[in-house]
Amino acid sequence: MNRREAIKSTGILASSIFLSPQLINQEQEMSYSKTDFGKDFHWGTATASYQVEGAYQTDGRGMSIWDTLSHISGKVKNNDTGDVACDFYNRYESDLEIMKSMNFNAFRFSISWSRILPEGTGKINPKGIEFYHKLIDKCLSLGITPFITIYHWDLPQTLEDKGGWTNREILNWFAEYTEILTKEYGAKVKNWMILNEPVIFGGFGYLMGHFAPQRKGLENFLPAVHHISMVMGVAGRIVRKNVEKAIVGTTFSCGVIDPLKDTKEDKQGAAAQDAYWNRMFIEPVLGLGYPKETLKWLEGIDKYVQEGDMEKLPFDFDFVGVQNYSRMVVTHDPNDKLFGSRGVDLKKELKINEKDITSIGWEVYPEGIYRILKQYGAYKNVKQIIVTENGAAGNDKESKNGEVNDPQRVKYYKEYLKNVLKAKKEGVNVGGYFAWSYMDNFEWMEGYSQRFGIVYVDYPTQKRIIKDSGKWFKEFLK
Ligand code: BGC
Repeated sequence: MNRREAIKSTGILASSIFLSPQLINQEQEMSYSKTDFGKDFHWGTATASYQVEGAYQTDGRGMSIWDTLSHISGKVKNNDTGDVACDFYNRYESDLEIMKSMNFNAFRFSISWSRILPEGTGKINPKGIEFYHKLIDKCLSLGITPFITIYHWDLPQTLEDKGGWTNREILNWFAEYTEILTKEYGAKVKNWMILNEPVIFGGFGYLMGHFAPQRKGLENFLPAVHHISMVMGVAGRIVRKNVEKAIVGTTFSCGVIDPLKDTKEDKQGAAAQDAYWNRMFIEPVLGLGYPKETLKWLEGIDKYVQEGDMEKLPFDFDFVGVQNYSRMVVTHDPNDKLFGSRGVDLKKELKINEKDITSIGWEVYPEGIYRILKQYGAYKNVKQIIVTENGAAGNDKESKNGEVNDPQRVKYYKEYLKNVLKAKKEGVNVGGYFAWSYMDNFEWMEGYSQRFGIVYVDYPTQKRIIKDSGKWFKEFLK
């Protein structure tokens, strides 16, 4: 039986909300409330264009690298594609109404580059422009503050054909795209994020060959790293120029890296991984340069750095988006050429209990968000941090009475939020929190097999059901 066959549809409406006794008990145990985070705190959920929109050939949209990859048989789990996804392109109004009913005041979404510029540059697609106007207008009419991510991994295929992130021309392509977006939407939207997680799309896409466009090797990765780093300032300056009172940020995937053993080798291995996962993209933007002293092979990047680049790299972002899910524990491995270390097996080597590992195989480690917020908060030039993603995957199912009970996720959010608050109380300027994700969606190479939503999506019918975790947020944010 495949995933879709396994999902039963019983016609329960997403908007029917009753708190189970279990949730009420959890509520009583709570040691903090929404007001502890401050009155201007952004409480939101997040999505990304390719993961939710579907409508991949509708209204003149061009192809992206994720369309290409997911259409190659055997690449994505179960051969899933984003062709339909959550059909958000057609259902955004009711989705935003559900979001509003859950008491969220902010929504982070990304724009599909190939909906705006089907060929990546040049001819603008008016239907694509119109879609995001309608989406933004709907947010505003509901009192939901829109947060735009300019780029969440779905590069137009035409641009990848010209080298994608390895081609320095991308600075101009991205500038053209950003000019269009900011001139169109800048009067309505003040909160902008340039990139989603450089180390993930850069590393998995151009070094490890795991994500689209599945390129490998330092000869692809090093130029990509430099262009990705440069683009943050290039686009950041455009947002500032075109959007009055803009609040500009960019987001980073990050998490603490612990050595398995208290040995020099394990600690060195952890430091190398930390330089790669947590420092490599934020530090140049903060004016600290690339962490070459820790990652010797990063010296190869000099080949792609042109005169004046190091002066143009820094940008004074209004906020930095921290996206944290788990942590990594590493041990010395002389065979690993990049880091001299490898991640350990959670069950065998770290003896983590199965219930503390989510369905996607990531450890539940709430203290990690506190520690990484402290680490990022310690950078002198970071003015504010917004947690732009945090959440847990599960194999959620609809119950006979049409509910989706996800107690592990409720627990996850409660504990992670407690740790966010702890960091905030200790002086880290945290200005908002976005749960990943608003709804179950296309989880990249995992297809639809991993569910991260606080709203369940029954893919065959596109019915939405607010999960218990979503109901928990509704109560918490009341
Ligand atoms: C990404 C999301 C992704 C989530 C869970 C983040 O790395 O920004 O697109 O779905 O993590 O894997």
